[in-house]
Amino acid sequence: MSVDKNYYIKTYGCQMNEHDSEKIAGMLEEMGYSSTDELEEADLIFLNTCTIRENAELKVFGKVGSLKRLKRENPDLIIGIGGCMMQVEEPVEKIKEKFQHVDLVIGTHNLHKLPELINEIEENDERIISVWEQEKGLIPDLPSVRKSDFQAWVTIMQGCDNYCSYCIVPYVRGHERSRPKDKVIKEVKKLVKDGVVEITLLGQNVNSYAQDLEEDYDFADLLTELDQLDGLKRIRYMTSHPRDFNEKTIKTIAESEKLCEHFHLPIQSGSDEMLYEMNRGYTKEEYLKLIDLINKHVPYNSITTDIIVGFPGETDKDFQETLDVVRKARFDMAFTFKYSKRSGTPAAKKEGQIEEDVKDKRLQKLMDVQNKISMEENEKLEGKTLEVLVEGESKTNPETFMGRSRTNKLVIFPRKPGLIGKVVKVKINNAKSWTLYGEVVKT
Ligand code: SAH
Ligand code: SF4
Ligand code: F3S
Repeated sequence: MSVDKNYYIKTYGCQMNEHDSEKIAGMLEEMGYSSTDELEEADLIFLNTCTIRENAELKVFGKVGSLKRLKRENPDLIIGIGGCMMQVEEPVEKIKEKFQHVDLVIGTHNLHKLPELINEIEENDERIISVWEQEKGLIPDLPSVRKSDFQAWVTIMQGCDNYCSYCIVPYVRGHERSRPKDKVIKEVKKLVKDGVVEITLLGQNVNSYAQDLEEDYDFADLLTELDQLDGLKRIRYMTSHPRDFNEKTIKTIAESEKLCEHFHLPIQSGSDEMLYEMNRGYTKEEYLKLIDLINKHVPYNSITTDIIVGFPGETDKDFQETLDVVRKARFDMAFTFKYSKRSGTPAAKKEGQIEEDVKDKRLQKLMDVQNKISMEENEKLEGKTLEVLVEGESKTNPETFMGRSRTNKLVIFPRKPGLIGKVVKVKINNAKSWTLYGEVVKT
């Protein structure tokens, strides 16, 4: 048992990683560690890494390097690294050889072993590199320390079997495994009892939920059940795959009370050829039909997406198709990325890799087009009143609060006591591309 010791966790990457960090915190607190926001005060520093694009990796190495000094000043400090990047051989080798001050490397599949490994390090003062190549058995239930009192993530599945040709996730997160619905529902009930009003269901492809389980049950069925839980106000989910997002799910969302009207549907490209090469399993036309279906059943909505530019072989014509689909779909927002080669993925071996400056130009053009659309879509909300869950102080101005609309828009308004964690009505006065500014009209 470690007593009077502090931990510091730095998280990179997506919501799955954020949630894993809550589980890491949960395990550490069970061991007797307390959380600190000050690196200098930590007895244990843990980096939860991401490897989705090269720059995610560069950031991690920069950070690891900067920790050398702390280790020199405090040799008892334990430095641990986990997360997706540790499921890849090269970075682990690099850490083994070049970053001797790192005490622990742990993979994504054996995360539940963390306390055991830390105990070993504390007792024997040795370095441990422990990564399982594959997942073993069911998703372990781990304690979790939540950052928020009223919002929570709930894992419904892990891994991914989609093998999009550019993506490293299936290799570092393992096969798709769904958590049994009883476990999910039990966890949500417990969260609601603890005061949670908004949950976000997590999985790399939530729309294929339960397809690996024996039961005749699917994602829409889960949503229907969760929608009936008293006390819960909002249900979100991440991430959807356009190929598996069906009309049943859309209708369920339309008829439900708590499911938020926000659809994040990564399109990746507007070119059918690129989509085929990416192994996405839908065409531009099919994607646009899906958007039409959503607009038909859930007229007041927001739709956001992810887009990659510069996939190997992407011609200017392919890129024009992406711009075209962006103009047609009129996304509320898009996360835009330059293709990044991930070794071990099929796309990394493809001919026709695109020059960096071409990627830069395409990304800039895409952002220009999308930002204008985001602005226009947000301007439509000026004068309207939105339901907002107040999350806390805004990042840029302590005199203001921030929250999210059901459509996941970031809303900023003057602060007032007693609002955090409450659902309020905010009248929007001024819209920007990424943010809406308003005032609370009803609490
Ligand atoms: N499972 C989610 C995506 C997780 S990764 C889904 O399929 O929607 C988040 C985003 O990162 C992806 O949607 C994609 O746009 C981007 N991405 C993934 N691999 C990438 C790569 N090699 N280069 C650039 N962007 C990538
Ligand atoms: Fe990666 Fe595709 Fe799986 Fe998303 S669905 S995690 S992009 S392989
Ligand atoms: Fe990154 Fe792993 Fe998420 S690679 S995006 S942290 S699943």
